[in-house]
Amino acid sequence: MEVDKSGTRKRANQIKPYRCKNLICVLEYPMDMKNIGTVIRNVNALGVEKTYIIDPRNSLPDEWQEMRERKSLSKPSVSAIKWSFVKRFDSTEECLDHLANNRFTSIVTSPHVKGEDNFILHEADYTQPRLAVWFGNESRGISDLAVKSSDFCVSIPMFGMIESLNLGTTSGIVLYEVTKQRREYQEKYKRANRGT
Ligand SMILES: C[S@@+](CC[C@H](N)C(=O)[O-])C[C@H]1O[C@@H](n2cnc3c(N)ncnc32)[C@H](O)[C@@H]1O
Repeated sequence: MEVDKSGTRKRANQIKPYRCKNLICVLEYPMDMKNIGTVIRNVNALGVEKTYIIDPRNSLPDEWQEMRERKSLSKPSVSAIKWSFVKRFDSTEECLDHLANNRFTSIVTSPHVKGEDNFILHEADYTQPRLAVWFGNESRGISDLAVKSSDFCVSIPMFGMIESLNLGTTSGIVLYEVTKQRREYQEKYKRANRGT
C-alpha cells in the first residue's frame, strides 16, 4: 500500500505548535500491554512529548524501533507507538536519575493521599518548565520511592464504590488537564514575546 507522505507531513506540521514539549508520561511497573497501548494512544492524541516505562520484568524491548514493531503494543495503541517515542528503564531509581540529570520535576498520581502535598487534579499547576507525570502499577499503585521523589501527588476524586480508575482511563483524564494548562501557558508566553 502506498503511504501518503505529503498528508502525513501536513498533519505533522499542523499539530507541531500544539505539542507539549518537555512533558513526559512515566508508567511505573505496568503489567498489562493493553493498558500500555492505551496510555501511548492518549499520550499521542493529547500531544505529550514522550513516554517512559519502568519495566523490571523486561517485558518490553530496549529500543523504541523494536517496540514499534511489536503487535502486542502497536495494536492497542492503534499505531500511536509509531509516532510517540517510548523509552524503557530497568528500575525506578534509574528513571529518577535520568529525569534529575535532565532537570525534570516529577509529580505522581494516586487515588489515595500520598506524601506531603496532595491536590485534586484541576486545582494543581502543571506549567513547570520540565514535567514528568507518574502513573503507578495496576494493583500496587505508585511506589513510595516515586512519591518521595516527587513535588506533589494528584488525585481524581472518586464518587463510586470502587477504589480506583483504570490506568489507561486515568492517564487520559490527568494528561488532558496537564496538556490543557501547558498549551494555554505556551500560548500566553508566545503572545507576550510577540507583544500582542
Ligand atoms: C488501578 S490504579 C492502582 C490502584 C492501587 N490499588 C492503588 O492503591 O493506587 C493504577 C494507577 O492509576 C492511577 N489512578 C487510578 N485511579 C486514580 C485516581 N482516582 N486519581 C489519580 N490517579 C489514579 C494511579 O497512578 C494508580 O497508581
